[in-house]
Amino acid sequence: MIEIVEAGPEDWALVRDVRLRALADSPEAFGTNLPSAQALPEQEWRDRLSGPHATFLAMVDGHPAGMGGVLLADDPDVAWIWGMWTDPAVRGRGVGRRFLEALVDWATAAGRTPYLHVTEGNDGARALYVSCGFVPTGVRRPLREGSPLQVEEMALTRG
Ligand SMILES: CC(C)(COP(=O)(O)OP(=O)(O)OC[C@H]1O[C@@H](n2cnc3c(N)ncnc32)[C@H](O)[C@@H]1OP(=O)(O)O)[C@@H](O)C(=O)NCCC(=O)NCCS
Repeated sequence: MIEIVEAGPEDWALVRDVRLRALADSPEAFGTNLPSAQALPEQEWRDRLSGPHATFLAMVDGHPAGMGGVLLADDPDVAWIWGMWTDPAVRGRGVGRRFLEALVDWATAAGRTPYLHVTEGNDGARALYVSCGFVPTGVRRPLREGSPLQVEEMALTRG
């Protein structure tokens, strides 16, 4: 059974655990690296989960098996989807798609257009985004400072 639940400040240790698993598993998929996430104090995790942004966990058969979030940008029309990850043990079972739909719903309910970044070569994630209607905006930038990898910006603009 797959459940997508919004995490609050009281869930900080669970979110930290899943986020560290994600960064260890897929370092090239995310702009943050593992050491910087490991170094964050408890209060920072709690603050990030206190709103106005949203972080969701995927519970599969009662166990945390994925996460992702939506960040409200300073631009009032834009919401950034970030950190989408599902545990390798449950991939290919529809968790990522359910997750993305939940994040998109939350962003659109907030009146924002969902945007995201995907690393060049991450064809599985990109296929998921395209199948949900995301299109490239043409903007690219390095994954993180000094990285030779580029990320592609995509947006869900419903016409
Ligand atoms: C990308 C990711 C979140 C997908 O999660 P998932 O739970 O396996 O996704 P789903 O089972 O819901 O698959 C949804 C769609 O994604 C696409 N997809 C996922 N993995 C794929 C792969 N390896 N190859 C091709 N397409 C893939 C397909 O379009 C699939 O739809 P289909 O099953 O109808 O063909 C997961 O692979 C992951 O965590 N990867 C590592 C981290 C990452 O890359 N995050 C994205 C950062 S931008």
